Amino acid sequence: MNHFCYRDGILAAEEVPIPRIAEAVGTPFYCYSTATLTRHYRVFAEAFAGCDAMICYAVKANSNQAVLRTLADLGAGADVVSGGELRRALAAKIPGRRIVFSGVGKTREEMALALDAKILQFNVESEAELEALSAVAAERGERAPVAIRINPDIDSGSHAKIATGRRTDKFGIAWERVEGVYDQAAALPGIEIVGIAVHIGSQLLDLAPFQAAFAKVAGLVGTLRAKGHPIERCDLGGGLGVPYNRENPPDPMAYAAIVRETTQPLGCKVILEPGRLIAGNAGILVTKALYLKESTGRHFVIVDAAMNDLLRSALYDAFHRIEPVVEPATGSKEAPVDIVGPVCESGDRFASERPLPPIAAGDLLAIRTAGAYGAVMASEYNTRPLVPEVLVTGDRFAIVRTRPTVEAILAREPIPDWLR
Ligand code: LLP
Repeated sequence: MNHFCYRDGILAAEEVPIPRIAEAVGTPFYCYSTATLTRHYRVFAEAFAGCDAMICYAVKANSNQAVLRTLADLGAGADVVSGGELRRALAAKIPGRRIVFSGVGKTREEMALALDAKILQFNVESEAELEALSAVAAERGERAPVAIRINPDIDSGSHAKIATGRRTDKFGIAWERVEGVYDQAAALPGIEIVGIAVHIGSQLLDLAPFQAAFAKVAGLVGTLRAKGHPIERCDLGGGLGVPYNRENPPDPMAYAAIVRETTQPLGCKVILEPGRLIAGNAGILVTKALYLKESTGRHFVIVDAAMNDLLRSALYDAFHRIEPVVEPATGSKEAPVDIVGPVCESGDRFASERPLPPIAAGDLLAIRTAGAYGAVMASEYNTRPLVPEVLVTGDRFAIVRTRPTVEAILAREPIPDWLR
């Protein structure tokens, strides 16, 4: 459920009509709904009521400071994958003790930053990383709390570019080596083993791969404990899918049930890292139709947003629903159109032959389910400034990221003295 609906024939975010925001900030822009973020967080958190569970929101999905502050106020922790994300989480008042640091390539500087912040744990993904972390911590006379991320060799069934739990993916420690790596960790002076971690992919629409992965983790916990390794926490990652169109992903209650089944007998603390589930349907990208053009039977609507603003369609052939901001008259006829952006690439396309009601130049369109992996993956390709982000609550809205000027972009590029 989300809070973007037509009110008196005009799409609104909660109680704010989208055209009012468009007038104030110009198009394109991202618009997020506080009520939707809150609802998604609460539904997920409530599914784990009574469980010893910590919800560490995956900051990569949407790292806007105002979004993080909203979630921090609800009690969320954070899953971060860079020093930058760590600093964002801390700036948004998420305490270090609720922050997990994931990712295959943490630098020594990032490790030190995370030790300074006294984070909950590092999810370590290789023997070499373990050695580096131990060295950084030992030098400070500390021990870094560590969970080893395992690679369970399970195909999550999600898009190949966002599946992370197969043997051929770069993530985690290969199944056969896990025990050896725990033994290595136990012998290192700067490491304190606290748990085990797994994350098999994103946008999962089926519980079976989760179940298989969690069962493998549970089996390992037994084996590792028998060898004397203190496994107190199971970090089960994120990945629960959301509806972009007519998909019917498992609900958080069903997901929580399998988590409980697996972890309760172990008496582990559970960490969960949902990203898309919290932010995906809490955001839209609003764009304006610039021109219409027909070319050998294809009808193109050229809009002012492009692949640099929302990369998902170009990168993963992802489907995003597109709706006119002014509600189409009942019975208005749909015809197939291509919704494309101004970037000079054929992949700059939000929809192909999509049946849509008539669109005229100047019309506003909403690209739905853009709250996760939207603004965070944007670039300035074609020197298109990053688009603003707006957060709505009730009948109020605020710009939570401003649109940079081209002057500001150029100012980052000093001319060397020999060219002056
Ligand atoms: N934990 C870890 C270790 C992750 O790598 C990820 C996502 C998450 C949690 C959050 O997963 P979620 O609950 O959001 O599915 N850019 C892609 C998605 C990449 C996901 C990467 N890892 C997309 O637009 O679909």
